[in-house]
Amino acid sequence: MIMDGNGRWAKRRHLPRAVGHQRGVESVRRLVRAVRGMGLECLTLYAFSSENWKRPQDEISDLMGLLRRFIKGDLPEFIANGVRLKIIGDYKALEPDIVHMLDDAIERTRNGSVTLVVALNYGAQQEIARAAQLAAQEGPVTVESISRHLDTADLPQLDLLIRTSGEVRLSNFLLWQAAYAEMYFTDVLWPDFTPGHLDEALAAFAGRERRFGGR
Ligand code: FPP
Repeated sequence: MIMDGNGRWAKRRHLPRAVGHQRGVESVRRLVRAVRGMGLECLTLYAFSSENWKRPQDEISDLMGLLRRFIKGDLPEFIANGVRLKIIGDYKALEPDIVHMLDDAIERTRNGSVTLVVALNYGAQQEIARAAQLAAQEGPVTVESISRHLDTADLPQLDLLIRTSGEVRLSNFLLWQAAYAEMYFTDVLWPDFTPGHLDEALAAFAGRERRFGGR
C-alpha cells in the first residue's frame, strides 16, 4: 500500500495536515484488523520514505509521534491477533527510542501468522544498492543473490501494489519486488480507504490474467 492523500484529505476540510495523518493511522488500524479475515498473508505499508526527510520538521515529528503511539497502543492487539510486525528500510537511523520500541515489538510478535510490514526510512533504490553491495561480496551478482539480500528476502512475492489518492507512480517503493506485481490505483484518499476498498482491489486483482512474461 502506498498510503497517499492524507494532506489533501485534511486540506479539503480546512484541517491541519497532522489531522490527515491521524486519520491515516485510523485507516491503517481498520485494515490491519481486517486482513486476517480476508485471507491475506502479508500487508506492506509505505509509512515513511527516505525522501520524506525533506518535509518540514514539525510534520516529521508528527509522523514519528504517530508511529510511537501506533506501536505502543496497538502492540497488545497485534499479539492477541497473531500479527507479526516486520520493518523494511533503514529504520535503525530513526530516533533511538523508536528503534528500541520497534525491535521490542518485532521480537514480541515473532510468532504471528499474518505479517504487517511497515516501510520506514525506506527507499527501493537504496535497498537495491545495499543488497547489490552485499551480493558482490559473496561472488557473482545475480538476480537471485540480490533478491536474497533485499529487506523483503523472507517475505512472499509482491502480488498487488495499491496506491491511493490518484497519483500514478511508485515513488521509490518496492521497485525490484514490483517486477511482476499487479498495480491498482484509486482516487480514494488514504484516510477514506476502508477494508471495503481493499476488497474491491482484491476483486480487480482476481480478474487479472498474470503471465509473468510467458503466454
Ligand atoms: C501521504 O500523505 C502519507 C504519508 C507521507 C505518510 C503515511 C503515514 C501514515 C498513514 C501515518 C503513519 C503510519 C503508521 C503506520 C503509524 P501526504 O501527506 O503525502 O498527502 P498529500 O499528498 O495529500 O499531501
